[in-house]
Amino acid sequence: MGEQYHFDPDTYAELMESEVPSYDRLQDLVAEHCAEIEARTILDLGTGTGVTAGRVVGVQPGATLVGVDESPEMLARARELLPEADLRVGRLEDQLPDGPFDLVVSALAVHHLDGPHKADLFARVARVLAPSGRFVLGDVVIPADPSEVVTPVDDDGHDKPSTVDDQLVWLQQAGFDARAVWVERDLAVIVGDRLAR
Ligand SMILES: C[S@@+](CC[C@H](N)C(=O)[O-])C[C@H]1O[C@@H](n2cnc3c(N)ncnc32)[C@H](O)[C@@H]1O
Repeated sequence: MGEQYHFDPDTYAELMESEVPSYDRLQDLVAEHCAEIEARTILDLGTGTGVTAGRVVGVQPGATLVGVDESPEMLARARELLPEADLRVGRLEDQLPDGPFDLVVSALAVHHLDGPHKADLFARVARVLAPSGRFVLGDVVIPADPSEVVTPVDDDGHDKPSTVDDQLVWLQQAGFDARAVWVERDLAVIVGDRLAR
């Protein structure tokens, strides 16, 4: 998602349409796996304009949602869509909002972190999840076959996708029962259920 590191809410939808052809499919699957559990409290990481958060609230209508994104401009747009949500400007590398959350979700944001920061984020996600809570992650990944790269990845260091396998290992190390539920070329949806401690 290279040409634009600082996302612009006015061009975001168009950018996704051109760079992530299966964007809607990914969002649908993320929401489907969020619907499988009963969630009263949700944390959305990298809320952007609120597309993922809106769909997740749609399948968990009684829940309260906290969203985090480093872009005040993107969150301003999300606030129009989700006036009830608690949307906070913040970085995924920093302390997460206090839990416990029944569900943590993130779409197309975690690939902005490098491997060690992803592993660290997954450990912090496990800590803010309620017992038996779920983490649903939809993102750009490094595909097994390099010819399957579809989404442009910038070369100035802002896109740092990892393989599905590496992310499964980091999730397992963080205390999740983790599995990839969908992989299509360079996109994946991964579900992690927090193991009892
Ligand atoms: C491609 S958008 C995804 C937004 C939404 N989840 C969706 O799927 O439409 C990625 C979002 O992640 C945010 N982001 C990127 N790196 C971040 C970081 N390190 N901390 C917090 N937010 C970040 C960007 O500001 C942007 O709004």
